[in-house]
Formats: sequence, structure tokens, C-alpha cells
Amino acid sequence: MFEEKSLIKKTLIDKDFVKAPVYETVRIHPNVTSLITERDRAAYRQKVNAAPHLKISMLTQRRLISPGFSISYLNGLEPLMKGCLDVLERCLNKECEKAGGYAVINMSQMLGNLTSDVTSATSFGGYFGLVESNDMKMKNMVMDRLKRAALDVQLPFIKYLPFVPPSQGEGLNDIIDNIVATRKSEKNSETFTHLHVREEMSLIAGADTTSTTAAFTLLLLVHNQDKLKKLVEEIDSAFPSKTDSITFAKTQDLPYLNAVINESMRRMPIVAMGLARWTEKPSIISGYEIPADTIVSPAIGQLMRDPRVWPDAEKFIPERWLEAYKGVEADKKAFYPFSSGSRICPGQQFALKELRLILVTLIRRYELSLIPD
Ligand code: HEM
Repeated sequence: MFEEKSLIKKTLIDKDFVKAPVYETVRIHPNVTSLITERDRAAYRQKVNAAPHLKISMLTQRRLISPGFSISYLNGLEPLMKGCLDVLERCLNKECEKAGGYAVINMSQMLGNLTSDVTSATSFGGYFGLVESNDMKMKNMVMDRLKRAALDVQLPFIKYLPFVPPSQGEGLNDIIDNIVATRKSEKNSETFTHLHVREEMSLIAGADTTSTTAAFTLLLLVHNQDKLKKLVEEIDSAFPSKTDSITFAKTQDLPYLNAVINESMRRMPIVAMGLARWTEKPSIISGYEIPADTIVSPAIGQLMRDPRVWPDAEKFIPERWLEAYKGVEADKKAFYPFSSGSRICPGQQFALKELRLILVTLIRRYELSLIPD
């Protein structure tokens, strides 16, 4: 495991090591890969650069992940994202009205429902409507899938035992049937199969990373009331009227908001420890010879909390992204919330736009506080 900044850069960017075999063990079907589980460089590039003549599996994946690739496409998703946020606002208002102005809401759950609705509306061509229904079936299926993936990584043989059920339950079939039916009516969808959708359901995990980041940010803000106050001031002056529309464009250049998001991803990163990469041939890293077929793990989570790089690393200090803090400028080369290199998160622009809309919507409209105890 490498924690040092230059070694992490070497592993992820300069040498651009392939993903480790553990990514294969989390595939549901051994021969069907997703953007996350594909290890082969050429096959991955093909997926990303998919052109009409490529097989439909790749088109499918490009369509699913396309939010990450094109700014104009992303901008076209704005009404869909905002539609989901309007539903959230209506539901929260209803809860508050019922309870005399203040309501106790499980924001982690609510945000999880919201980002799943956004993913379904923008990527799968359907809309789950989880914010309104609060139906935990979908969430539980995804959580079961993630837990099972963690087990498959530790005990790769488990899926071959006859008495162990398949890693994704039958409950998912209804949802997949709907998605396939919708997509079959689209151009180029002749060979669109259940297997590919099933594999790409892992994109819902992308929704989970966004909702967890949003929930962590709210948590850090309510624990740091002075920072919350500054953010409220910035948002109130950018949106003086309660009816001002909250848009991608208007939320993009709010300096304190962007600093809050960066600091939240630094302080509570989604990848708390390291990623898993693989040496295909012997490699020299920082003078050490690493044999072929070895896992190397760039510890991006550790680096982002390294006190040698970030003064008061354990504190939440958005200001460090605006000006030097204790004489130290924020080091963007030690900041990897979305990883880096050829396997950098393709959903990062999508996630950032969504995070800004969520935070501005919630903070402009509601007063947030922790439940006592
Ligand atoms: C704040 C939210 C997000 C964070 C912090 C985040 C972070 C990351 C990180 C650290 C990786 C690298 C994982 C690895 O190498 O194993 C990754 C990969 C990935 N992310 Fe995200 N992500 C976020 C949101 C999203 C969203 C919204 C999507 C989909 C629209 C998405 C899709 C993906 C995909 C497909 C990969 C695999 C890419 C590859 O292996 O080449 N992510 N993400």
C-alpha cells in the first residue's frame, strides 16, 4: 500500500496499472463485464470509445455512463435532475407541514432515494420514484448485492457452492424487465440483454457514492455551524428570492460551496483506504522491485487525510480551498476523491453537478440540525 503523493501518482497515472483481479470476483456473470469490472485495457477503451459499429453491450454501457463524458449531454439532463429534486422538496415540505414546521427526517435514506431516482431517470430510461414511495426494496437489493460482492472478494469460491443462492435475487427481474422493455423501443437496441442491464445495475452504486457524499457534507456542516452559516450567506446572496431557479449554471461558480464539497470529499472520502491495482510485469517503484502479479494499492483515502500535506487534517476547513491555510495551499495533486489515470471516475462531473443542486436546494429552503442524542 502506498501513501506517499508521488507514489500514488506513479501507480495511478504514470504506470497506470490495471485493476487487480478482485474486480473480476464481483462480476455477477464471469463473461459479462461492466465499466467498473473490466480489467482488460483494450476492452475498456473500446467500451469508453464505443462507436455505432461496436457490439451493443458496449453501446449499452456507453449510454448508461454517458453522463460522465459529454458536457452538452450532461446539461440536457438538468431538467430530469431538477424534476427529482422538486419531488424531494415537495415530500420534505409535506413532512414539515404535518409536524408543525419541523420534521425528523432520515436524510441519509432520503438522499439515497433521491440519487437512485436521479440515476434511474437519467441513465436507465425509467424513474424509480423512491423519494415518494420510500420503497426500500431496491435499496436493499443493491445493499445485498454490495455485501455479497464484499463476500465474493474475500471468498471467491463461494459462488460455485451449489447451496449458495445466486448473487442477485429474482426480485430484480421485474425492474430489469421494465428497463429492457423501454430500451427495446430505442434505436440500436436489438441485442440489448438482461445480462448487460443486470451487470450495469452496479451504476446504482454510483448513486450511492453521491448520496453518501451529500449526507457526509450535511453532517460536517451541522457539526460546524460557523461553516454552515457562511454557506447559507453565500447561497442567500446568490438566490435572494425563494423563487429563483436553482440551475447548474448558477450553482457552478459559488466559491464557498465548491470549497465545502472539496473539503467534505477530502475529510470523509468514499474510498477511505486504497484502490487495488495489479503489476502485470515486474516494476520498480521508488527503488523497490515489485514482482509481477502483485496487488499495489494507492491509498488515496490516507493521502487526503495526511497531516504532512493538510494542516489540521482531521478538521473540516473549507477555507483551505480558497486561500492558504496555516501557510499551506491546498495541494490538488494530493486530492483524489474520484481516483485518477485512465480509470478515473467517469461520473465525476455528473456527481458534482448533482451535489451542488442538492446542497443549494436543501440549504436555501430548510434549517438543518442534528436530532439530540
Ligand atoms: C461523489 C460521488 C462519486 C465519487 C466520490 C466517486 C468516486 C469514484 C472512485 C474513487 C472511482 C475509482 C474506483 C476504482 O478504481 O475502483 C470511481 C469509479 C467509477 N465511478 Fe464514480 N464516484 C462518484 C459518483 C459516480 C457517479 C454518479 C457515477 C455514474 C454516473 C459513477 C460511475 C463510476 C464508474 C462507472 C466507475 C468505474 C470506472 C473505471 O473503472 O474505469 N461514479 N468513482
